[in-house]
Amino acid sequence: MRNIPVVKPLLDDEELAAVKRVLESGIIAHGPEVEAFEREFAEYIGVEYAIAVANGTAALDLVLKAYGVSSGDEVVTTPFTFIATANAVLYQGAKPVFADIDPRTFNIDPSSVLEVITPRTRAVIAVHLYGQPADMKALREIAEDHKLALIEDAAQAHGAEFMGVKAGALGDTAIFSFYATKNMTTGEGGMVVTNDGGVAERVKLLRDHGQAEKYLHVELGYNLRMTSIQAAIGRVQLRKLDRFNEARRRNAKELSERLSKVPGVEVPYEDPRVKHVYHQYVIRVNDEYPLTRDELREYLRDKGIGTAVHYPLPIFQQPLYKRLGYPQDICPNAIEASRRVLSLPVHPALTPEDLRYICDCIAQAAEAARR
Ligand SMILES: Cc1ncc(COP(=O)(O)O)c(C=O)c1O
Repeated sequence: MRNIPVVKPLLDDEELAAVKRVLESGIIAHGPEVEAFEREFAEYIGVEYAIAVANGTAALDLVLKAYGVSSGDEVVTTPFTFIATANAVLYQGAKPVFADIDPRTFNIDPSSVLEVITPRTRAVIAVHLYGQPADMKALREIAEDHKLALIEDAAQAHGAEFMGVKAGALGDTAIFSFYATKNMTTGEGGMVVTNDGGVAERVKLLRDHGQAEKYLHVELGYNLRMTSIQAAIGRVQLRKLDRFNEARRRNAKELSERLSKVPGVEVPYEDPRVKHVYHQYVIRVNDEYPLTRDELREYLRDKGIGTAVHYPLPIFQQPLYKRLGYPQDICPNAIEASRRVLSLPVHPALTPEDLRYICDCIAQAAEAARR
């Protein structure tokens, strides 16, 4: 039987050689390798500063701290994202406020953002979900009108573009994750990118125990540095990123061509202004399809096809947030999406036969159920 994983990190002799070089250099923690990765990443995104950190969650945490978000503040974001986006707001003692999503793109809906802004709102975190940039034009206007910081959570969107500008250069400051499943990886890792020199300085200080000079600590910081080993892997992955993304886009196109012929399967919508990099390829299983999303998932598992649900609950329905008192019936589009979405394999290691097999299985599952 086939075994097609839903995600697959792609590492080869080049990453091995880069790690070997770092190990042999003797500088394995912070060092010139990290600084080189930062320079190359900043140049790729088209921003002035990049600060490498331990992971994407740390990047979000440090950015909010750099902006001075604190107790009594509100930060508007989407409930249809990985938990880290909202948790970073809780880390500050501030309140995540959820705006609903656009049901076509699954990204935060700017008109819903407008409805939840209050005098306490300090920032908006836009997540470029699945590799598709959010509507940054509308969000930028809102942020400017209401004097809010516009932060991009680009953890899933390395190399994505909105109106020809790369994700990461669309807001005031952005973060990336290099977790193992991302479009490029360092195992664990993260990056803050910005054109704001003040924010960059503060993030640098905070990631390194508030250390302005060797053993001179000017504020309460943390150890959230990236290692040279991670950076060495990241530099190689960055060189491969465009190639990886093109493969993801080709795979997505092939999947969409085939799956759009299956009644009840809604293929991903692409905003015509974006370059989508398909961190995830997500279908919506609607009522016309004879199986539920979870039944289809089980059928595919039995056929050796890995799938995932991103995300089975909107954040306000997670036990942690329920306990915090969030109403359970807000953001109906996010609730509906959480019941319908299914992520299929789209990674660059898939073969044309794999893609055909995935689509055939989804069509056959429906035919078998109708019989
Ligand atoms: C949208 C989003 N934000 C934040 C994160 C957190 O990144 P990390 O896992 O590197 O901490 C992730 C991914 O894991 C993510 O997908």
